[in-house]
Amino acid sequence: MTAMVKAEGVHKSFGNVQVLKGIDLEVATGEVFCLIGPSGSGKSTFLRCINHLEKINAGRLYVDGELVGYRQKGQKLYELRDTEVARQRRDIGMVFQRFNLFPHMTALENVTEAPVQVKGESKATARERAGQLLERVGLGDKAKSYPSQLSGGQQQRVAIARALAMEPKLMLFDEPTSALDPELVGDVLDVMRDLAESGMTMIVVTHEMGFAREVGDSLVFMDEGVVVESGHPREVLTDPRHERTKSFLSKVL
Ligand SMILES: Nc1ncnc2c1ncn2[C@@H]1O[C@H](COP(=O)(O)OP(=O)(O)OP(=O)(O)O)[C@@H](O)[C@H]1O
Ligand SMILES: [Mg+2]
Repeated sequence: MTAMVKAEGVHKSFGNVQVLKGIDLEVATGEVFCLIGPSGSGKSTFLRCINHLEKINAGRLYVDGELVGYRQKGQKLYELRDTEVARQRRDIGMVFQRFNLFPHMTALENVTEAPVQVKGESKATARERAGQLLERVGLGDKAKSYPSQLSGGQQQRVAIARALAMEPKLMLFDEPTSALDPELVGDVLDVMRDLAESGMTMIVVTHEMGFAREVGDSLVFMDEGVVVESGHPREVLTDPRHERTKSFLSKVL
């Protein structure tokens, strides 16, 4: 099985604060990989490193076999040009806690923007696919609505459709439901479950342990910039081996 994401000894510091202290992990193609851990443990930073929104200080990150952000020549690494980084990023969809939709564009326009501007797709093609994607996330009737006219959960589903419009091979979710009112969480998780069933490779930072247990193939518990424990979600959640994992889970479960 080829790894969609491979991290080898990934280190990241901000100033003299070490946030990632050597992350090693592998995400298989088609896998739903859940990442949990306390606030400040480095989960978002790690996700941001995967699409080179943050530069790493040591180690290697590969997506689909390709080194992220650098080219290696002999033992030396050379940082890629912005255009090359942008090309790598196109294959990676990212959904944040806050939906970050373009406020002056309708749902449909939000979803067509990147395929037209970045990939040079025709407007007609992009619009047709955007319509299908909005259907898929249960918002076929909201194509003409502006973000301000949509609930948080609906906006988040538009954000997922927008990421999917680029036909990514990997989707990164950073606490996609944690800013939502509880009654809106389910619809977003349903969309993510559907996406998982379609075979998408997903890394999901989440506090939704039910989702991790039911949909996740792997679960990693991170604390203070290291992977403390990993395994099948059911095992880690019901029978954690490490004290730190036990103590964290006792607070969130
Ligand atoms: N741009 C930055 N500059 C300086 N420090 C940063 C920056 N981004 C993150 N940090 C620090 O890195 C550490 C890890 O932050 P990160 O956002 O990755 O944690 P997290 O696990 O996602 O937490 P949360 O669950 O609260 O989202 C924190 O101590 C944070 O203050
Ligand atoms: Mg975070």
